[in-house]
Amino acid sequence: MNTFGERLKISTFGESHGSGVGCIIDGMPSNIKVDLGFIQNEINRRKGGLNLYSTQRKEDDIIEILSGVFEEYTTGTPIGIFIKNGNAKSSDYDDIKDLFRPSHADFTYFHKYGIRDYRGGGRSSARESIARVASGAFAKLLLNEFDIKIKSGIYSIGGIECNNINFDYAMESEIKSLDIDIEEKQKEMIMKAKQNHDSIGGVALLCASNIPIGLGEPLYYKLDSAIGALMLGLNGVKAVEIGNGVESSKIFGSQNNDEITNSGFLSNNSGGMLGGISNGDKIIIKVHFKPTPSIFKSQKTTTTTNKETILNLKGRHDPCIAIRGSIVAESMLALIIADMLLLNASSNIKYLKQIYK
Ligand SMILES: Cc1cc2nc3c(=O)[nH]c(=O)nc-3n(C[C@H](O)[C@H](O)[C@H](O)COP(=O)(O)O)c2cc1C
Repeated sequence: MNTFGERLKISTFGESHGSGVGCIIDGMPSNIKVDLGFIQNEINRRKGGLNLYSTQRKEDDIIEILSGVFEEYTTGTPIGIFIKNGNAKSSDYDDIKDLFRPSHADFTYFHKYGIRDYRGGGRSSARESIARVASGAFAKLLLNEFDIKIKSGIYSIGGIECNNINFDYAMESEIKSLDIDIEEKQKEMIMKAKQNHDSIGGVALLCASNIPIGLGEPLYYKLDSAIGALMLGLNGVKAVEIGNGVESSKIFGSQNNDEITNSGFLSNNSGGMLGGISNGDKIIIKVHFKPTPSIFKSQKTTTTTNKETILNLKGRHDPCIAIRGSIVAESMLALIIADMLLLNASSNIKYLKQIYK
């Protein structure tokens, strides 16, 4: 299944080493000004090849808008987007066309479909996530109309956690670290992994602010369940925390409850949602990424005919997927909130009356 969203439906297509990756955004309201510079900049934030801490695959990643935008405004019709692949080195994958990379999707794609595009991981590659960032940029244009802002940064790498959270600093950090004082240690951890022909896991922190009360559709499209499902659908994500998350399972109610005053909540352990509905506070999410499966250490594996062998990998890979993954997660959060905003408009007769009066 390659489509998600209820009102704002995103369908993506394309493979890592095919002609390119694209998406169709269906359900975007008309008359939103499309700032192409902003959209391209969002895509550039996800780019690899910019420093030692990401894959060395360098792509131009120039966005082509095929439809749905006229004279710089959305028309309310499907927005088609295409981004060409230009720097695929498929020969890097010749040696592993009959082998499975441990912890990658090679094994399951082969056994499920009986055929697999082994070049760069085909459809299972996170090259696809560029389409999520492109559509997330459109979602952000919609959210801008309501002054809703979504930010992200790297919270921890290999267990080295930030003490201070500074989303502005993350925008300029090479590894998108949230803490200038911890960044160097996090960088050292990535370099250590790289030098050992290994990779390392990490956690991204997301924050959405100026959120109206009421977003989320209980019971089966709650704000938290939608965030959980869609974040876990992103390559390499193995856990998602809402607000105080895992910590809340270790403490007393009196420590975890967000007391209420007439000027707002006294804390935000619930991460901005209650009962699956936004409570007007900031939405706070942690997204946990596993280490990159493609590493350059020798590993045991099997062939497609089930013979045991040793894998010695070549190619270009991110040493820590959390870094570029944080931008994709931020885009996904924008898409979920935009979808919830559109859904909420029909949840209460009072909103509908405002439109049709
Ligand atoms: C932004 C991003 C970049 C990634 N880059 C790589 C990579 O260079 N090499 C790799 O083996 N996996 C990479 N991954 C992770 C794999 O796509 C993912 O682990 C794999 O498809 C298996 O899926 P699963 O981990 O969700 O089970 C990346 C993931 C993200 C989000």
